[in-house]
Amino acid sequence: MNLDATTLAYQSGFGNEFSSEALPGALPVGQNSPQRAPYGLYTELLSGTAFTMSRSEARRTWLYRIQPSANHPAFAKLERQLAGGPLGEVTPNRLRWNPLPIPQQPTDFIDGLVGMVANSASEKPAGISVYSYRANRSMERVFFNADGELLLVPEQGRLRIATELGVLELEPLEIAVLPRGLKFRVELLDATARGYVAENHGAPLRLPDLGPIGSNGLANPRDFLAPVAHYEDRRQPTTLVQKFLGELWGCELDHSPLNVVAWHGNNVPYKYDLRRFNTIGTVSFDHPDPSIFTVLTSPTSVPGMANLDFVIFPPRWMVAENTFRPPWFHRNLMNEFMGLIQGAYDAKAEGFLPGGASLHSCMSAHGPDGETCSKAIAAELAPSKIDNTMAFMFETSQVLRPSRFALDCPQLQNNYDACWASLPNTFTPDRR
Ligand SMILES: [Fe+2]
Repeated sequence: MNLDATTLAYQSGFGNEFSSEALPGALPVGQNSPQRAPYGLYTELLSGTAFTMSRSEARRTWLYRIQPSANHPAFAKLERQLAGGPLGEVTPNRLRWNPLPIPQQPTDFIDGLVGMVANSASEKPAGISVYSYRANRSMERVFFNADGELLLVPEQGRLRIATELGVLELEPLEIAVLPRGLKFRVELLDATARGYVAENHGAPLRLPDLGPIGSNGLANPRDFLAPVAHYEDRRQPTTLVQKFLGELWGCELDHSPLNVVAWHGNNVPYKYDLRRFNTIGTVSFDHPDPSIFTVLTSPTSVPGMANLDFVIFPPRWMVAENTFRPPWFHRNLMNEFMGLIQGAYDAKAEGFLPGGASLHSCMSAHGPDGETCSKAIAAELAPSKIDNTMAFMFETSQVLRPSRFALDCPQLQNNYDACWASLPNTFTPDRR
């Protein structure tokens, strides 16, 4: 356990050129790589995008550290690999899972990652992989992911994420994004932790454009929090693990790799409190497309078609007149992996539990279950609040394939289709 007693501090904004130093004057002024960096530190560049990306797309951070990352022995493939692989067969069927149990045996964040669905091989610069995580102990090793950016969505248990750039503390209803390649250690602040991870192999997540909504609304930039510099000057054996093309590799360092004393740049880890989302919806009639609830998006080269949209369904007032208020029945081009952080989701009466998940692939028909639908048609419409709930969706343009584990695990519900089988035939051709 490495629970350093530090005062947590954050820098606010999204995509800013942040800067931070844990020692006064550690950050060089006026240039990036002076001949001699302050305090005898080494200079290192962490690029999250190709050098020649447009300025608006480029992500990079300059690090001033006790030892450069290059000081490591050869990595060896770990015996214990990620759970959940390989991918199973393609299926057009609608799938839903109960929450995975938290293991009894000692399990840290890496051991507790289970691959659920994916739509890309890790070497492709597009697509996503989705994992469930369960843990009952803090990581003692340090991890980085060469295969993509990680979006963490806790469902249970608070986390302390010590990263190269500083510390993020996270609780359910908050999310964190960790850039590709950034080293970090996930520590538990409660006995157990569980949640979801989207691994984004494509363009880094960013705020969606707002179009006619204007210059405010949805997730506001100032509510995104990046850490301040915090370093570990520890000369003790530390295992460094990386995921590289889907495989775990490790090496032994004689020091902590979380040894960055100062940094500046825009390729940073950040957190966001979903309760700060400015939810926008109809004030007249009809149910808007769920894109109105997009927190973050990773675009593809096709305008408007996301590699990954992170969408939430937060507490909100329902005021639409003469409207079927739950989500409509629909068939989409996009593929939807949904999870639930707390409460109940307004399209499902039962069977979709916090920590559970569902998958609705391209053109698979879905919508409210029979009970929700009947209630919505019969309801006396008045302003009402959906409260104490937070569901989310990872929406992606390529079909997601379940892992072998996800298809075989006992948490896969074998009767999910039945929730639509009770829809009565209410058609009356002689009465409008
Ligand atoms: Fe849907």
